[in-house]
Amino acid sequence: MNTPTRIDQALKFAIASTEAETAPPLLAEAIRYSVFPGGARIRPRLCLAVASACGDDRPMLTDAAAASIELLHCASLAHDDLPCFDDAATRRGLPSVHKKYGEALAVLAGDALIVSAFEILAKASLAKPSRLPSLMMIVGQASGMPSGIAAGQGWESETKIDLEAYHQAKTGSLFAGATMAGAAAAGADFLQWREFGQRIGSAYQAADDIKDVVSPPDEIGKPVGQDAAHHRPSIVEDLGVEGAVDRLKDLIAGALAAIPDCPGKDPLRELIVAETKRFVPKGLSTQAA
Ligand code: IPE
Ligand code: IPE
Ligand code: MG
Ligand code: MG
Repeated sequence: MNTPTRIDQALKFAIASTEAETAPPLLAEAIRYSVFPGGARIRPRLCLAVASACGDDRPMLTDAAAASIELLHCASLAHDDLPCFDDAATRRGLPSVHKKYGEALAVLAGDALIVSAFEILAKASLAKPSRLPSLMMIVGQASGMPSGIAAGQGWESETKIDLEAYHQAKTGSLFAGATMAGAAAAGADFLQWREFGQRIGSAYQAADDIKDVVSPPDEIGKPVGQDAAHHRPSIVEDLGVEGAVDRLKDLIAGALAAIPDCPGKDPLRELIVAETKRFVPKGLSTQAA
């Protein structure tokens, strides 16, 4: 099965477990809408790629790990677009979840997805319970306090924000969760995968900051100019577009250098080189890899 199909199936399976005839139908619809159609699905792809590089001896657990990470991501987007955060009307080229279903259901859809992310790991671990504690811890750290997504969004309510801490928490944490969950699902030493995940997350957020300034909204499917409009610190504000692209290049190189030794290191490296080439927005040339 190819990777996009594998991810799609894992997510459909996860979402199906939130649906039942007895469930409130509009919330069920809002949950499904938060996850499908998807965006880049980069975090679950990264999770599967790391698991493969580590042997992927429990594919059902790997699928659940990848789906868990993507559910957390989709939840974070539904919440991030709310009026109390970025107040964004579009996401993935469509109305954002609260624009389509209202704020109450967007809050609840995000909440339910976060809970499902843990639940599906528990279910998938029944055949290999010894891997569950690590996976739970990884997913919890990636999404909560003191340094997960909640922390990242929390920084926006502070008067002084450190750009590196902010980017690491709002984006790096879930990328580190993706690499570590892939390793943990395959029974590998997951801690050595944290740095690679964090670095690739920093590069991805740098790319997102650049796109927020240079890309047309129809190309990225969400509003642009948001960092300046909301006075958010960004790598472009710090370094300008050219400096930010140079930094992005360095961050990608740093991520590639941080891939730990593992049985499938070479194919993983090739895949990451190909993926990161797409980080640079169209029209801005760089010798990123
Ligand atoms: C958007 O993430 C939020 C960031 C952390 C940059 P993605 O760019 O991965 O969003 P989708 O899933 O492709 O829509
Ligand atoms: C989103 O960061 C990261 C989350 C934790 C949701 P941004 O607010 O910069 O991402 P976009 O540009 O809305 O996708
Ligand atoms: Mg935001
Ligand atoms: Mg946003």
